[in-house]
Amino acid sequence: MAALGVLDGANLNGGQKLAVKYFTVAFILFGAQILFGLLAGLQYLNPDFLFGVLDFSVNRMVHINALVVWLLFGFIGSVYWLLEDEAGSPVVGIKLGNLIFWIFTLAVAAVVVVYLVVQIGPGEKSSIWLINEGREYIEAPRWADIGIVVCVLVFFFNVVATFTKGRYTGIGGVLVLDLVALAGLYLAGMFYTPNISVDQFWWWWVIHLWVEATWEVMVGCLMAYALIKTLGVRRKIVETWLYIEVALMFGSGILGLGHHYFWIGTPEYWFTIGGFFSALEPIPLVAMVVHAVFDSGAHKMKNNNHPVLGWTIAHAFGNFFGAGVWGFMHTLPQINLFTHGTQWTPSHGHLAFFGAYATIVIAFFYLAMQKWRGNVWMSGNMAGDWKWKWSLALLHIGMIGMVMGMLVAGYQQSFIERAIEGSTWMGYFTAQAHPWFLQGMWWRQIFGWVFAAGYVLLAWDLLTIGKRETRPIAVLHGDASPATA
Ligand code: HEM
Ligand code: HEM
Ligand SMILES: [Fe+2]
Repeated sequence: MAALGVLDGANLNGGQKLAVKYFTVAFILFGAQILFGLLAGLQYLNPDFLFGVLDFSVNRMVHINALVVWLLFGFIGSVYWLLEDEAGSPVVGIKLGNLIFWIFTLAVAAVVVVYLVVQIGPGEKSSIWLINEGREYIEAPRWADIGIVVCVLVFFFNVVATFTKGRYTGIGGVLVLDLVALAGLYLAGMFYTPNISVDQFWWWWVIHLWVEATWEVMVGCLMAYALIKTLGVRRKIVETWLYIEVALMFGSGILGLGHHYFWIGTPEYWFTIGGFFSALEPIPLVAMVVHAVFDSGAHKMKNNNHPVLGWTIAHAFGNFFGAGVWGFMHTLPQINLFTHGTQWTPSHGHLAFFGAYATIVIAFFYLAMQKWRGNVWMSGNMAGDWKWKWSLALLHIGMIGMVMGMLVAGYQQSFIERAIEGSTWMGYFTAQAHPWFLQGMWWRQIFGWVFAAGYVLLAWDLLTIGKRETRPIAVLHGDASPATA
């Protein structure tokens, strides 16, 4: 075994070696997401910027598809990270897993190149197959869609086979059931219908049911594992929380789907169903905050990895505010009538995706770096620990600043465009020319740069953290081993 602080693959098990590959691609795509977001933001301020070269539609598409794909890579990596540890058995089919990783990565690169090269063109059957399916967030062309399904099936097989061969912990069981739902739902977004209402109906099955049901359960499992690892919380406690959270999440999130069926031509009963159930959705998110804070407090914040605990707590709060509070604000149909189609939505979309998902994947990046460097010390008085603290701060200041900029713009649009001007064509333009809107867009851009600075610092930190550390990981007086579950 190499000396402490040295990056050495021998420190990792098979699943973890594969995980760091997924993490690397995820991190690069995160950078691409930021770059295209900044370009799209500049086009809001100057619509002529790059017009005809890199259109807003393309920038925006690459921005949000990169987001979905980097989070998926982050989740797959995180599951491979914990798999052998939880199952107590080497990953079954690791060679196939590696092959699929390369195929998946190349396919993503090919899809992005095509997006950039073919920016406009006729909407024919061949465009759907080869260029772009036109479904926001999951715009991959049909050939890639099918490829993604194959890749995910292989991943699923590896996970199930490994748990079956080893053992099923509570986290393992929930994870497997969740992956069935997560992969199954993707299929709902693969069948194009020319009727826009029908198409949107199914498209939301992927988008909403992913982020408000299956992804939430996925991060519940990841948070549970991170808390066991860094705090040494008793598995029984963590898994009991997990079951409660999952029940509440599915209980409210599935019918909460109705909050997207208010204005797309679906029957009116969705007003009641969507309004009621989605209003309950913040409850499991409160439970997650209580869970993280309670466990940290019970262990007097004594932990073996400060950045992981920091990002896990950021996740619990970010999920609660971004999804729970910002989602709740516009989820009742009476309110959504005024906020729909304004900057209110991206204000919520940014805070929720960052707060709920980016945070926990970043926590896993740090978990990986610690072990990769031979399980080094990452608790108090770590060399260069200003870097993780400052990148956490800059990313949060940047994100919250952007979200507030958009919220002010969204308020103004709801007020002028919707309430005063009655959603007329004229009102739309009046609202967009209003100084409050324009200033909000400027603030979004300025804080976007702050966010980008946080990303650069995060990259630097992840590459160097633990490098000069010679102390071994802090010992926890807990019980993290699955055997005692
Ligand atoms: C982490 C979980 C969540 C994420 C990542 C998320 C993300 C998003 C995104 C990106 C959109 C815009 C979709 C589009 O392009 O049209 C959206 C819409 C919406 N979200 Fe969420 N959301 C989450 C949870 C919630 C929760 C818990 C609620 C309610 C309590 C909620 C309420 C809404 C509503 C009402 C809309 C529709 C806005 C409109 O079109 O008028 N979201 N969400
Ligand atoms: C670095 C700074 C960023 C800038 C300047 C930026 C800018 C933008 C812009 C201009 C849009 C299009 C909004 C519209 O169509 O009205 C957008 C959409 C979006 N961005 Fe970002 N973004 C940034 C970072 C992020 C991050 C870090 C995340 C998530 C982790 C994110 C998630 C999203 C989502 C979910 C949407 C679609 C929202 C919706 O349709 O409601 N962005 N972004
Ligand atoms: Fe939703």
